[in-house]
Amino acid sequence: MPAIVLVGAQWGDEGKGKATDALGARVDYVVKFNGGNNAGHTVVVGDEKYALHLLPSGILTPGVTPVIGNGVVVDLGVLWQEIDALSARGVDCSKLLVSASAHVIAPYHQVLDKVTERFLGKRKIGTTGRGIGPAYADKINRVGVRIQDLFDESILRQKVEGALDQKNHLLVKVYNRRAVAVEEVVETLLGYAERLRPMVADVSLELSRALDRDEIVLFEGGQATLLDIDHGTYPFVTSSNATAAGACTGAGIPPNRIDRIVAVVKAYTTRVGEGPFPTELLDADGEKLRQDGGEFGTTTGRPRRTGWYDAVISRYAARINGVTDFVLTKLDTLTGWERIPVCVAYDVDGVRHEEMPMSQSDFHHARPVYEFFDGWTEDISGVRSFADLPKNAQSYVEALEAMSGARISAVGVGPDREQTVVRHDLLS
Ligand code: IMP
Repeated sequence: MPAIVLVGAQWGDEGKGKATDALGARVDYVVKFNGGNNAGHTVVVGDEKYALHLLPSGILTPGVTPVIGNGVVVDLGVLWQEIDALSARGVDCSKLLVSASAHVIAPYHQVLDKVTERFLGKRKIGTTGRGIGPAYADKINRVGVRIQDLFDESILRQKVEGALDQKNHLLVKVYNRRAVAVEEVVETLLGYAERLRPMVADVSLELSRALDRDEIVLFEGGQATLLDIDHGTYPFVTSSNATAAGACTGAGIPPNRIDRIVAVVKAYTTRVGEGPFPTELLDADGEKLRQDGGEFGTTTGRPRRTGWYDAVISRYAARINGVTDFVLTKLDTLTGWERIPVCVAYDVDGVRHEEMPMSQSDFHHARPVYEFFDGWTEDISGVRSFADLPKNAQSYVEALEAMSGARISAVGVGPDREQTVVRHDLLS
């Protein structure tokens, strides 16, 4: 079972970090293949809590080689901050590999991210402001700067000049900002080069060889299915492919090498930023879910929007990603509700939809059709086997499994690595 892809099934923050970390001790490589420091994984190990934004969660497991693939956009200032902070707490980061073909988030990308959001006004996306969209836009426009360019000063200068040519006109004439000086950017980026050099690798080749040796490689998706640039709730999405196929393009691995696809799904739903959210609760129930689940962003600290579990979304995630296993997280957050609604279909202008509506306008108008399940009051945070869960909690999990299109192989009952009920081994 060498290659496993792990993705988020909803709008992110499903607890992928914990799932990766739980597998960590048994895997040889953990690869981040999309996104940048817009991600936010919280991993709790013993009494220590780690918030990771750019580094793959595998960095916390001794022996694992963490990898940043070509599909990632890298803010090198943030990379050093994270490495320094982890090193200060005794975490060894020396095995980290960074793809020579990954793109760099330059200081002008953050400026543009913030300024364009402001100009969008009511139509804003609610981005993390980390420069993710503008960095990917440059990649697609073929004016991006890649990690390998940092080792050729004259190429770097040419590329930065090319990237800033139009942007400076835009910044000054449209957005009324200061122009960004080419030399300043070049100096900043060159300043990162020497420290970066030993980490730079041909990631595709390295992973291909690892798989040939039958080593276990875990591809960890950033963000989630409904934030995918192609399959998410466009335009309220991130700018990369967060679905399973993104692991292939974002790390240079062919589809036929992937053996298992695990999607992490929360026992209810959350979302940050703007965009449609059919089961959203804007009342005291929503606030209770937010408080009980600690639903505040790891990256931005923003309160997350909250709502009930949506089986239409998990069925969609199962189909788009080819999910073989779900990991259901935060079941413990639902303890204490008398009855728990689950969205089983949508009503769109009087028509019942069992599957994700084809058009975004229909999704905006979707009203949840709920089925109700009896809740439980027992504390489940210490439970480690499915049979020991309260009967109603078992029924809830089994009902979600029947509706969601793939088996639920693990259930999270608390933030700690150990607080998991395993039903099927993800690695066998
Ligand atoms: P961007 O990725 O910063 O461009 O933001 C685009 C959208 O994706 C916004 O709605 C963000 O809130 C959302 N987003 C980006 N990263 C994450 C994440 O790790 N978890 C949840 N939402 C995210």
